[in-house]
Amino acid sequence: DLSDPLQTDPLMADLVKEWQKATFARPLVGGNDGVGAEQPVLDPADHNRSPGTVVEATVQDAHEAISLALAAQHDWSNLGADVRAECLMRAADAMEAQRTRLLALLIREAGKTLPDAIAEVREAIDFCRYYALLARREFLPEPLPGPTGETNQLQLHGRGVFVCISPWNFPLAIFVGQVAAALVAGNSVIAKPAPQTPLVAYEAVKLLHAAGVPGDVLHLIPGGPAVGEALVTDPRIGGVAFTGSTETARRINRHLAAKDAAIVPLIAETGGQNVLIADSSSLPEQVVQDVIISAFQSAGQRCSACRVLFVQSDVADKVIKMLSGAAADLILGDPGKLSTDIGPVIDAAARDRLTAHSQLIGQIGTRHFKAPLPPGAEKGTFYPPEIIEIDSLSRLDREVFGPILHVVRWEASALDKVVEAVNATGYGLTLGVHSRIDETVQRVISKARVGNVYVNRSMIGAVVGVQPFGGEGLSGTGPKAGGPRYLTRFAAERTISVDT
Ligand code: NAD
Ligand code: ALA
Repeated sequence: DLSDPLQTDPLMADLVKEWQKATFARPLVGGNDGVGAEQPVLDPADHNRSPGTVVEATVQDAHEAISLALAAQHDWSNLGADVRAECLMRAADAMEAQRTRLLALLIREAGKTLPDAIAEVREAIDFCRYYALLARREFLPEPLPGPTGETNQLQLHGRGVFVCISPWNFPLAIFVGQVAAALVAGNSVIAKPAPQTPLVAYEAVKLLHAAGVPGDVLHLIPGGPAVGEALVTDPRIGGVAFTGSTETARRINRHLAAKDAAIVPLIAETGGQNVLIADSSSLPEQVVQDVIISAFQSAGQRCSACRVLFVQSDVADKVIKMLSGAAADLILGDPGKLSTDIGPVIDAAARDRLTAHSQLIGQIGTRHFKAPLPPGAEKGTFYPPEIIEIDSLSRLDREVFGPILHVVRWEASALDKVVEAVNATGYGLTLGVHSRIDETVQRVISKARVGNVYVNRSMIGAVVGVQPFGGEGLSGTGPKAGGPRYLTRFAAERTISVDT
């Protein structure tokens, strides 16, 4: 669209070239492309514009991949952390070199805006480099004390075959983060991307193979819950890293517990019911800016996104009015346009869930704002930003995964009750606090059971190695992605005592 001056940016020309290339994803078992029926992958912004095709894996592919991965794991583990870390460093360099291709896929396959796509490619690269550095440090044998004539040592090694299952909302960063951690810890890996976003995952696995990870060590199994279940119910696996909904994590947990086989770890990073608490000492302009980013960026499709603003009654009317004004300025549309602020939601099922929630909650709450849909929105799956006031957090019984912000008013004396209500959701992912009263901030931090607290800033966009990310309770098991303790959960420990 050359009528939009931003579209003449040189990066756009490179993205357009990438969009014109034939793109596909296949199962990658033992480094070989699988065959089968090709299905179009949908562009969530325009269903007539498929970004590529996918051949989904069969249950037989999943079993074969586990057999090959099992046979290859010992040699991979014995290579040592330095060699494995080198592979991740080379993969990070390759992602950097291929960033335009990755950006193009993220925009067309996942509906990411360009700024979101850039941040995601950056995060995937950061995960590779961070876990490589961490592995070099953590996987050195640790000498331990002992009596004269005896040496003792603690070593870390891979657990076996790790199954990595990822969601569509960070189809590159979370996909690569899980896989990189499992690989560098000495495991072989079966990676299952979300069915909506196989293309960018296929590209990432190809880059990891080219960077030196053997085809028998890293396999790609594109597909949905059926192949996912085949992987997690297989008695031969050594662990599962899962990111997705709380419901699916519970299901996987039940499968792992029911197996008459080794007891293996589940690392689960799941959903949230994330709240931002603003008191009357906070700066309304800053609250509004940070809530708009936290609730609506990425079309609200972040596990970290702000779902509920608790605003102190004295300033509530003013803040709600300003929020509605700021939300009205957001441009909803094709993420392939540089001027777009908010792209589509991932698919029709997601849009329909949001519509149903809005209708239901709209009957008991007050709708302060809902943006109109732009022309052409019917070609894809768009949901406009919406602000609905409700009387209590308990009105929400599950995560609402999209650009719907709920607002609840609270009275000055009720701060502890607000935090109790947040804890009572059972989720514990992100929490925002906006206040210039240090005592208020400290009180909230000391009482809230959440994984990431953000004070006087937005509550999304955790940076690898800077804001280790992950929740507790219904939001996940830990350890935190992008944090110093993440890798050790992918490894087993061995103590070696030698009588000299
Ligand atoms: P989802 O649970 O539907 O699917 C996630 C993955 O699990 C997909 O690959 C899916 O195919 C697979 N899967 C589904 N059923 C399965 C089964 N029975 N056995 C094995 N695998 C199965 O989640 P989604 O809709 O893809 O992602 C959105 C969710 O992810 C939201 O709840 C969001 O909060 C959460 N999320 C959490 C984090 C975090 O770090 N805490 C990050 C991103 C997304
Ligand atoms: N790690 C992502 C964020 O912080 C989900 O927004």
